[in-house]
Amino acid sequence: MKKIAFFDTKPYDRTWFDILAKHYEIAYFEEKLNRHTATLTDGFDAVCAFVNDRVDAAAIDRMHRCGVQLLALRCAGFSNVDMQAAGKLRVVRVPAYSPHAVAEHTMGLLLTLNRRLHRAYIRTRDFNFSIVGLTGIDLYKKTVGIIGTGRIGRAFAEICRGFGMRVLAYDKYPAPDFEYVSLDTLLRESDVISLHCPLSEESYHMLDRKAFDKMKKGVFLLNTSRGALIDSEALLDALNNGTLRGAGLDVYEEEAGYFYEDTSDRIMDDDVLARLLSFNNVIVTSHQGFFTREALDNIARTTMENIREFAAGEPLTNRVSAEA
Ligand code: NAI
Repeated sequence: MKKIAFFDTKPYDRTWFDILAKHYEIAYFEEKLNRHTATLTDGFDAVCAFVNDRVDAAAIDRMHRCGVQLLALRCAGFSNVDMQAAGKLRVVRVPAYSPHAVAEHTMGLLLTLNRRLHRAYIRTRDFNFSIVGLTGIDLYKKTVGIIGTGRIGRAFAEICRGFGMRVLAYDKYPAPDFEYVSLDTLLRESDVISLHCPLSEESYHMLDRKAFDKMKKGVFLLNTSRGALIDSEALLDALNNGTLRGAGLDVYEEEAGYFYEDTSDRIMDDDVLARLLSFNNVIVTSHQGFFTREALDNIARTTMENIREFAAGEPLTNRVSAEA
């Protein structure tokens, strides 16, 4: 195991991986991995992919024929990998690198939306010191509904408790320390709703029109998990009809063609994303919840350890299988 092909790489990936991967021959491709670019893997033993690489059956088949044995995801989620087809390769991931990074970003979105800090910043830079339209609410004693109480949901709950908020939770597999309710109750009672569960066939469009209809008027919605948990057209309606006081989105269901890229000199051809960006009570960040020094360091270390385990023929601690 000597040669690793990295896809969808940015300068910060090199910074962290170059320190740790001295014993490997690495090619950093800027291209995203997909069925077409999979041919670039010819002669590589392992491929390191990221969240918006499209690893479908055709890409897997091509990589396999190019001699790739290991797909090392440098992220936690693997909904972009066709795990049914992946049997030909071993797949490993980084299950946790800093739940705090994502949880803190989630609270950042909430605080910004609530107190309209994004608008205040622009106003004062233009010497406009009016605070008209910037009214927020106290978060203290408000109810936050957390969907998915794994590592990140738990870290976010701790932060919310620190703000004196009541925490309601919904999870397919309840654990101790939470006041669990049904999804319907969570939607009906929460002032803030935050998504922290993985994307799966079951959770696809978990927040659809019916779900938005159950929410209180004036809810803050936060999604730092996966875009397709929300039906974006239904989200637009909920913003239009005032169900939502604001939406903080670090992910978007069609983000793959845009996020992590500078598209400022192109015409935006995704009308839903363009409309979302036109609301002054919507903040979109570019899937950057994970983006702290600590998380990048952990991602690089765990990925290289995953590759080392495979090369040494040891059991794969972070293996992903079709049943996972
Ligand atoms: P985790 O695996 O620790 O927790 C996920 C929780 O969701 C578990 O408690 C699980 O029981 C629950 N769950 C699974 N299916 C569910 C369903 N259908 N309905 C309700 N709950 C369900 O995962 P972790 O580390 O907390 O990450 C959560 C999500 O955050 C990931 O799936 C990923 O999509 C996203 N993420 C986003 C990042 C970003 O940069 N914005 C970075 C890392 C992860």
